[in-house]
Amino acid sequence: MKGVRPDIALLKQNGITAVAFTRMDDPKVIPLWFGEGDAVTADFIREAAKKALDDGETFYVHTRGIESLRLAIKSYLDSLYAMDVDPRRISVPGSAMIGVTIAAQMALNKGDEALIVSPHWPNIETTYAVTGAKINMVRQRETENGWQLSASEIVDKVTEKTRSIYINSPCNPTGWIMPRKDQEELLACCRERNILLIADEVYHRHIFGADVAPSFLQIAKDDDPVVVVNGFSKAWAMTGWRVGWVVTPVEQSEHWAIMSECFNTGATVFAQHACIAALERGEPVVQQMQSQYEAAAKLVNDAFEGQRRIKLAPPKGAFYAFPKIEGIRSSLNFTKALLAEEDVGVAPGYTFGIGNEQNIRVCFAQSHERLQEGLDRIVRFVERYDNH
Ligand SMILES: Cc1ncc(COP(=O)(O)O)c(C=O)c1O
Repeated sequence: MKGVRPDIALLKQNGITAVAFTRMDDPKVIPLWFGEGDAVTADFIREAAKKALDDGETFYVHTRGIESLRLAIKSYLDSLYAMDVDPRRISVPGSAMIGVTIAAQMALNKGDEALIVSPHWPNIETTYAVTGAKINMVRQRETENGWQLSASEIVDKVTEKTRSIYINSPCNPTGWIMPRKDQEELLACCRERNILLIADEVYHRHIFGADVAPSFLQIAKDDDPVVVVNGFSKAWAMTGWRVGWVVTPVEQSEHWAIMSECFNTGATVFAQHACIAALERGEPVVQQMQSQYEAAAKLVNDAFEGQRRIKLAPPKGAFYAFPKIEGIRSSLNFTKALLAEEDVGVAPGYTFGIGNEQNIRVCFAQSHERLQEGLDRIVRFVERYDNH
């Protein structure tokens, strides 16, 4: 490819969009492919964005985010985790995805190694690949009691060259949650070996049976090599707004301003004002979605339980089910056929890393009626699908 670095030319579109872009705007399709629901962002958040526009909030702002948003994030985190976060550690570089990208760029050089807990969201692998580092995977185990992985299994995969570890808990696509004691063990390893731990906690408010998942923020000291990434997309249903935040070691603060300049030079300013409204008045919205998703996880379990060919390790958080469909050979072919014959969009397992060719990812954040219809169609299709 002319004018393109060879390693960039080799990158592939992820499997979620490869399927979804074919019929993304077709109203006949029940879309369970992306990581979002069908509820529009709450009124008061949209109103705050409109007001910011009317107030003329259309100029460049600080590349680490407007101060009032950084302070609102601090208040949110302080009250959620009963702590006192140093505000210099908080930056708003754009979306959560940009947060992961900048952190990976800061930590990794060509020739370094990075360790990703898998199954994983494909964009993470791509963002790490762009750094030129070699990527190693450590795989969660599928058990009857959900997906499992201990800190020692992760530490066992660390090499002399490992410079960054990526943990996403609650996990997309498996719903795995890393318990506190494992977080402590892993953090000790990163501290000792000076490995940048990127803790992607965008599903922090989606853990079943609790209000918030254990966070690395609660155990990391101000100067530990940890970047905790979070954002507004999931907990406040703001996927299209593209705003997230990071909590970094204090000494990285200035470098987040610099790196933000070479990505999108900060997040959209009127969206940042809406995010303040989300943090200050959004708790009922967050809690309503928590209950909706927990009930939806039960709908998925009920629909798949007892199905001859569908094996589901039940998720403990996030809003995805990642079942294995016995007998299928290609998750992509299966997913395309499901879309063509039943008008249901799901994501093919292969895109979440090696070892998932028989899995599909079903996002259960849609309203219950549509979700149930989608699940019924998946079950019916699995029974008749045959590519042995
Ligand atoms: C694990 C994970 N990290 C990050 C993101 C991106 O979040 P944002 O929309 O804020 O970029 C997603 C979105 O699906 C995700 O699943």
